[in-house]
Amino acid sequence: MRTPGAWDRLHNEPELIPNAVEEMLRMASAVAGSWRIAARDCEIGGVAIPAGATIMLRNASANLDPARYPEPEQFQPDRQNARSHIGFGRGIHQCIGNLLARRELAVAIELLVGRFACITLACDEPDLAYAPNVLLRGRASVPVRLELRA
Ligand code: HEM
Repeated sequence: MRTPGAWDRLHNEPELIPNAVEEMLRMASAVAGSWRIAARDCEIGGVAIPAGATIMLRNASANLDPARYPEPEQFQPDRQNARSHIGFGRGIHQCIGNLLARRELAVAIELLVGRFACITLACDEPDLAYAPNVLLRGRASVPVRLELRA
């Protein structure tokens, strides 16, 4: 909705949809963070983390790292490294449902851009509140207007 031309581009170039889904997951990481306990002493970004410390990984923040994703707040459906995001975590506990979630999103977007000519926000942007939750990041609601294709 915020990126001019993106809706039409996904309609005209549906082969971009899987990568666009990765870009959405990167930008709007639904699981914003997760708790970990440091298994050993280590240092991250100059910060010493002692073994046994409880830490929170902020997936959502890492996914907006400008050193990895130039212009991180921009939705670029053809971003080369979009799929390297950690919106599903990483390692042995990586989200077991990631392939299903990816597929569901791709199917939903393909159907939406096929059926509707455009989507616009039906409220003022500042009225879009986040549900209060330290781990999960999601809007309480997103009212939209959809215009059917002729
Ligand atoms: C966009 C949708 C989803 C997002 C962003 C998401 C994200 C995540 C994240 C970040 C984790 C933690 C990974 C870690 O600790 O490193 C996780 C774990 C998990 N997710 Fe998802 N998830 C999604 C959809 C799903 C679906 C559809 C299913 C099941 C059908 C699912 C099942 C699970 C399970 C079982 C775990 C625990 C895995 C483990 O601890 O070994 N998730 N998910």
